[in-house]
Amino acid sequence: MSEKFTVGVLTSGGDAPGMNAAIRAVVRTALANNMNVLGVMHGYEGLVNGEFKSMGPRDVGGILQRGGTVLLTSRSKRFQEPSGQREAIRKMNEAGMDALIVIGGEGSMNGANALSLQGVKVIGIPGSIDNDIWGTNIAIGTDTAMNTIMDAVDKLRDTASSHQRAFLIETMGRNSGYLAVMAGIICGAEIVLIPETPPDQQEVAAAVEDAYKRGKTHAIIINAEGSGIRTTDLAQLIDEMDLGFKTRMTILGHIQRGGSPTAYDRLLASRMGVKAVEALVEGKHGVMTGLKGKGIDFIPLADVISNKRKVNMEYYHMVKVLAR
Ligand code: F6P
Repeated sequence: MSEKFTVGVLTSGGDAPGMNAAIRAVVRTALANNMNVLGVMHGYEGLVNGEFKSMGPRDVGGILQRGGTVLLTSRSKRFQEPSGQREAIRKMNEAGMDALIVIGGEGSMNGANALSLQGVKVIGIPGSIDNDIWGTNIAIGTDTAMNTIMDAVDKLRDTASSHQRAFLIETMGRNSGYLAVMAGIICGAEIVLIPETPPDQQEVAAAVEDAYKRGKTHAIIINAEGSGIRTTDLAQLIDEMDLGFKTRMTILGHIQRGGSPTAYDRLLASRMGVKAVEALVEGKHGVMTGLKGKGIDFIPLADVISNKRKVNMEYYHMVKVLAR
């Protein structure tokens, strides 16, 4: 009698809302396909340490709606070294793990590809609020983060208008301006500053002054954390320039990573989790699940990591047009 196929699942890098929904989908689909499931704790760090736990259907009960990740996560330096990867593969072999599903961002897909190149059967699932992963229209967690930002900026606009202030708001996104640009559109910002295009402080000042002259009660400026200009410096500069509005600033920070996933993220995560296991059943590996059009495709991990996802600059220009 042949032994059951055993699949491991881990979450790595920055947590993203919907990761739990993806874990649940992976575990239950694998069990439905008569596989064993090992949850790997603390991401790649736990893979190196052999922190595995057997998972049954009840272990993923009540987690669909929870933010964060029940498997915990880390940014493992040890796993980035060849010696750490060798140790991880050894731990997987000792545990009888036949394949691994990695849920995470760009760095996590790099790690997945490194394992794949060493003969491990790996499937990636994109999970990151930054939406900077090539090969998928959107990653798990991005929609929830956008909604969190929208909620926060709506609230800030209320107080900004009441006091006729300019508000500088910093969004996350590492080296990507995706969240900032989307926030610019959905929150009606005057201007957004993103890493993809060199920020021009004079342009920001002109946009704020213009908003004041046109009778606006507030000005919203969204600064992506990777834009190259510190939000505190820009706020001080705008204040000193005396452009009509007084200035305040808010750094949204890690609040953008938490919270219950939106309906969209729960659905996306569930679909990708199911597809990831189905890929293994079909004998596929070395790929990432990616949303293309309305369907989930399998994108080679080698392509995912060798391409850079770009922000759609049409959206960037749209912010300016809609700010009139
Ligand atoms: O990749 C997700 C992200 O939240 C980025 O937007 C941000 O730059 C980074 O992680 C923050 O990382 P940490 O939680 O380690 O401070």
